[in-house]
Amino acid sequence: MKERTLSIIKPDAVAKGITGEVIKHFEQNGFKIIAMKMVHMSKKEAEEFYAVHRGRDFFEGFTAFMSSGPSVAIVLEGREVIRRNRELMGATNPKDAAEGTIRREFATDGRRNVVHGSDSQETAAFEISYFFNAFEVFGE
Ligand code: TYD
Ligand code: MG
Repeated sequence: MKERTLSIIKPDAVAKGITGEVIKHFEQNGFKIIAMKMVHMSKKEAEEFYAVHRGRDFFEGFTAFMSSGPSVAIVLEGREVIRRNRELMGATNPKDAAEGTIRREFATDGRRNVVHGSDSQETAAFEISYFFNAFEVFGE
């Protein structure tokens, strides 16, 4: 079944100039880009987007990082794209990420780890609607 997932190319990746490299990985894996925009989240917007992590010890520092500069929000479409994108991203901490994954190749550490990806159909629906309205998504 065709699915949609939200990816964010995070501020570390945009600042390092590897936005295109990351997009290339998506396209080479057959994920279709059906929406894309550059966004600079406020601290509050980052806190709301990552609300499930509120109270964790990394929450403050991580949401400060996510609001530190522009990032690129992308909707990807494809068969099992939620799981396949998580696989392509690699583990949260690049030290644990498998060879060939985006985080293994580009991430600095477990906070500045280049990409976000939805982890279920429910979170994907919430996360896509956080950045895009129906007229901005060009899927099937
Ligand atoms: P999480 O949803 O656990 O990871 P993933 O991005 O792989 O789905 O955490 C969300 C983000 O929070 C993660 O990408 C980076 C940040 N984070 C930290 O900065 N430190 C940590 O110890 C953890 C677990 C996450
Ligand atoms: Mg997550």
